[in-house]
Amino acid sequence: MKFHVLTLFPEMIENAVHTSITGRAVKKGTISLDTVNIRDFSDNKHMRVDDYPYGGGAGMVMQPEPVYRAWTSVAEPCSKEGKKPRCIYLTPQGRVLNQTLVEELAMEEELILLCGHYEGIDERVLEEVVTDYVSIGDYVLTGGELAACVLIDAVSRFVPGVLSNEESFQFESIQDNLLEYPHYTRPEVWQDRQVPEVLLKGDHKKIQSWRMEQSLERTRQRRPDLLEKNRQVTAAVFSPTGGTRRAAEIFTEYLTQNPRYIDLTRRKLRKEKIKFSSRELLIAAAPVYGGQLPVMEEPLFANLQGEGTPCVIIAAYGNRHYDDTLAQMKERLESQGFICIGAAAPIIPHIYSPVLGKGRPDEKDQQILRRLAVEIKKRLEKGQEDGFLSVCLPGNPRPEPKQMKPVEKHFDRGLCTNCQACVQKCPVNAISQETLEICEDRCLNCMSCTKVCKAGARGFDCSQVRQYLESNYSSPRKIEVF
Ligand code: ADE
Repeated sequence: MKFHVLTLFPEMIENAVHTSITGRAVKKGTISLDTVNIRDFSDNKHMRVDDYPYGGGAGMVMQPEPVYRAWTSVAEPCSKEGKKPRCIYLTPQGRVLNQTLVEELAMEEELILLCGHYEGIDERVLEEVVTDYVSIGDYVLTGGELAACVLIDAVSRFVPGVLSNEESFQFESIQDNLLEYPHYTRPEVWQDRQVPEVLLKGDHKKIQSWRMEQSLERTRQRRPDLLEKNRQVTAAVFSPTGGTRRAAEIFTEYLTQNPRYIDLTRRKLRKEKIKFSSRELLIAAAPVYGGQLPVMEEPLFANLQGEGTPCVIIAAYGNRHYDDTLAQMKERLESQGFICIGAAAPIIPHIYSPVLGKGRPDEKDQQILRRLAVEIKKRLEKGQEDGFLSVCLPGNPRPEPKQMKPVEKHFDRGLCTNCQACVQKCPVNAISQETLEICEDRCLNCMSCTKVCKAGARGFDCSQVRQYLESNYSSPRKIEVF
């Protein structure tokens, strides 16, 4: 990440950024700082950059030309490479900086920060160069420099490599609109105050739930306004062989540090009615089978009931196409009280081919999912104020059921140890407990039985489908987000 700062006081920025963690990041090259002194672009022999305000009044105003030239000196080289960097003017009149905006800015490659002084900057040059107006809080500073330093510090924490692993895996204060739990170190007793007992016992589950309680309690006491914004995120995932689950987890964990997962691959959980309030967020994830949602006795997601609850839909597919799946999911969930505010169609390894979707979601996909997560946070913040908007998704919500290409399954009784793993893991109860035969009418051809069979007694021959897929759909598709 490159920060360019246009300022009359470069040393203020240099001193702050070259210190502590950001200083270490500059040395390592994970961030870079380029300060530009606006005074160097003055066209006045006394190097003045300000003048009296038209219409009278107190104070001085920074002139447009030196600011414009300083901006051009930075923006022109970037624009030549085909991208105009965002230019942020630090001002108490801007959008108040919060963690969502910080995360959004961290995804840019370059940022130009413009610091004003005196009464401000001539409006005409602001109209010409500024893309974002940002405030760091409802108070007035003497200039934008301290605000720029705050922004650089907060944004840098999200730039990969700036924080060490230990630093970045810490519970994030504010990340989930919750304040951090209290911390303790040695000695165990200090001035007659004891470290809470639970932290000394090493039971990590108990420690985790104690910390969560403390976070909630603290937020309730100190920042009840944040608690209002806090949303429980639940990912309801149908994933017989794990690909969809991995994609859903990557996305969900960009959104929250405290997700709840509901494994809809388990038949028992698909039978339980689960209600969601409008204060929650649902991530619904399913694999694409032949361009559609897997067909089963009780339709997937039928047990989830919303109440104006926002949801994000994920249809994961093995590099052919998701066809109608997103549209189907959206219609189903919206008829059950959810509002679909976003969607993604990530590519995952194909169950019938070791080549298609291999290694996906890869690093590039993860970046796209991260961007979507930040966009969803923005939509949630906006939706909280103005109501949620349902996104438009391609596809037919009610497609004709499709005939799948044949997959030959085989079962070697000689190798079978009767461990029953296939029976238990079959998401649609298609394998008889007694005979271990597969009921073809129910079978989804998801291959979970083959995957879980440790003895290698189950296998399948999908060479026909595989050949067809590999000769027609092997060039990697790009993950789509809505
Ligand atoms: N410049 C002066 N006050 C400011 C504030 N609160 N935020 C950002 N920039 C400023």
